[in-house]
Amino acid sequence: MASTEKDLISKAIKVMKNAYAPYSKFHVGVCLETESGKQFTGCNVENSSYGATICAERVAIGAAVASGEKGIKKIAIVSSSDRPCTPCGICRQVLAEFGPDTEIICTSVKGKKIEKFLLKNLLPHSFDKSFVSGNR
Ligand code: THU
Repeated sequence: MASTEKDLISKAIKVMKNAYAPYSKFHVGVCLETESGKQFTGCNVENSSYGATICAERVAIGAAVASGEKGIKKIAIVSSSDRPCTPCGICRQVLAEFGPDTEIICTSVKGKKIEKFLLKNLLPHSFDKSFVSGNR
């Protein structure tokens, strides 16, 4: 395992402990690395109004963007499930805004298996800013 990858995974495991998931009991932690080498973490934040839940990925992306970062190089996603979980459809779309080539590293605290993907393979033919700007 590459050293940044190991580092991202261990930071994702750490932040996963802060997941607020009293409803699903499914805990997720992520750590992403931006093009400029900065790292940002996030955990899922659930709500009694279930639809208001925010996934760990979007919490970390929001923190990165709020710090002025816009390119996401890699994201490690760790969950409490038996096998590595991949990002949901909404998070794939939000990730696509900041880099189709983002590397997605998925693993679970219960197993040693690591699955890796490129975002463009998880969300092919995504809707992106080129459609919007072409329409102006
Ligand atoms: N969840 C994430 O935070 N990231 C994912 O990639 C999949 C799902 C959260 C949302 C919700 O709090 C819980 O996991 C169960 O869906």
